[in-house]
Amino acid sequence: MTAIDGKVVAITGASSGIGEATARLLAGRGAAVVLGARRTQRLDELARDIRDRGGQALTCATDVTRRADLDRLVGRAVAEFGRLDVLVGNAGIAKIGPVADLDVDGWSSMIDVNLRGVLNGIAAALPVFRRQGHGHLVTTVSTSGLKIVPTQAIYAATKNAVRTLLEGLRQESTDGVLRTTAISPGVVRTELVDSIDDVQVREQIRRDMNAFAIDPEAVARVIAFAIEQPHDVEIGEVVIRPTVQG
Ligand SMILES: NC(=O)c1ccc[n+]([C@@H]2O[C@H](COP(=O)([O-])OP(=O)(O)OC[C@H]3O[C@@H](n4cnc5c(N)ncnc54)[C@H](OP(=O)(O)O)[C@@H]3O)[C@@H](O)[C@H]2O)c1
Repeated sequence: MTAIDGKVVAITGASSGIGEATARLLAGRGAAVVLGARRTQRLDELARDIRDRGGQALTCATDVTRRADLDRLVGRAVAEFGRLDVLVGNAGIAKIGPVADLDVDGWSSMIDVNLRGVLNGIAAALPVFRRQGHGHLVTTVSTSGLKIVPTQAIYAATKNAVRTLLEGLRQESTDGVLRTTAISPGVVRTELVDSIDDVQVREQIRRDMNAFAIDPEAVARVIAFAIEQPHDVEIGEVVIRPTVQG
């Protein structure tokens, strides 16, 4: 038995990278996981693999930009497992590049996925958490919001908007029902680099990833650490980065 055993955890962006690693780790420690993303084939393969190892996993096609999809994801957890203990709002994209490139569509996509996606998750999960009398909201923000660097201004802005949102929500939720955790990873070896359209920036990030990125399992362990604390203990913010990242 672990403190994660029996918890019901919904994860957005579960089809690869940090979300997938988190699903595997939590399911391995006894959580029932509900996996959301758009690539349903990847989700189904992951869920099958978790079940083959004796875990509990369900999938739910989820585009976080659509409010109704988040309602369905949360509803699936409650319908199948009776409640939702944790929502990991992890889906994200990085359409990074210089602001002067005026990639307005890329900016909008990042706002829609990275910020609106988390808001949609909150709108779906908060009433359930309040009804249950407990709940935990975990989000994946970024060290991009802590050390602001060229090409990452809009991405960092979406991540810092979420950081601000969670702190505000925390201040409004000191009755003990809700825990909030914002995790800021540095460079992590995932498919995120593929969402970068600017070729030069993409290749630079790919070089960084190849040179010193940490594995997504490291971030999953931090998420597990936040979840496994007793309910009166809130891990508010964690920064996790490669030791050599500047
Ligand atoms: N890798 C890093 O260095 C790093 C550093 C700091 C923070 N982060 C953050 O960590 C989170 C996870 O990213 P990752 O690094 O694990 O990259 P990843 O492997 O590319 O995973 C991103 C996930 O987000 C999902 N996603 C994207 N758009 C979506 C949408 N509209 N609706 C639902 N799901 C969507 C993707 O699934 P589908 O495409 O199947 O929908 C995928 O599962 C992101 O929020 C990212 O910003 C990553």
